[in-house]
Amino acid sequence: MKKTLILMLVTLIAALAYSSTLPYAEEVFHGGDVVYTEPLKAVIFSHKAHVEDMGMSCEMCHPDLFMMSNLAAQENDDFTMQSLYDGKYCGACHNGSWAFASDTQCARCHIGVKGYQAMTGQSDKAEEGHH
Ligand code: HEC
Ligand code: HEC
Ligand code: HEC
Repeated sequence: MKKTLILMLVTLIAALAYSSTLPYAEEVFHGGDVVYTEPLKAVIFSHKAHVEDMGMSCEMCHPDLFMMSNLAAQENDDFTMQSLYDGKYCGACHNGSWAFASDTQCARCHIGVKGYQAMTGQSDKAEEGHH
């Protein structure tokens, strides 16, 4: 009888542990994909890559480098490559020592207009004219 109880308990704990990792793993709370369109279309920031895949904590970016907001950084006039090179925004880490430097591998961050369309499903042909 005691054995059965222990077995049930172990099964229950295992089931709880399982349910708290597996089904919710895809729903870890973070900001999802952020796709900047200003000043240059488009730059991708993936919470999944930084938080889930690389295990960074929210405090590494919030609130000192970025607000928990949608595209607020691009409202700032200084959201430019020069700021990144100066160690601001993404450049706090993308400096060549911790993460790949901001003056290399442009296409990893810059997904371009095509990448933007692929991500958002928007074709925005109207805007293509003035690029
Ligand atoms: C490596 C940097 C980084 C880390 C780590 C990070 N974030 Fe973010 N987060 C960003 C950036 C960049 C933005 C966009 C900010 C902006 O320009 O408005 C953002 C935006 C957000 C937003 C708003 C998204 C939207 O579309 O409204 C939420 C919510 C958020 N983050 C939650 C989190 C949480 C929760 C964690 C920890 C589990 C986390 N973030 C970790 C960089 C990071
Ligand atoms: C707190 C540090 C930190 C900040 C801030 C940060 N990153 Fe990263 N990022 C990393 C690290 C570490 C890696 C992985 C190491 C590497 O690939 O060099 C990475 C990897 C990436 C990758 C490659 C991910 C992949 O899926 O291959 C991209 C793209 C990227 N970052 C873009 C950005 C952009 C855009 C911003 C600013 C909006 C940003 N990061 C801000 C630390 C950071
Ligand atoms: C770590 C990510 C990252 C890398 C790597 C990166 N950029 Fe950027 N870039 C950004 C972000 C973030 C912005 C501002 C948001 C936007 O314009 O959509 C930006 C904006 C720009 C802009 C418009 C603003 C300005 O400074 O004039 C240009 C041009 C640009 N990048 C060129 C490049 C080139 C060329 C490379 C490679 C040598 C590069 N970027 C590499 C993230 C990156």
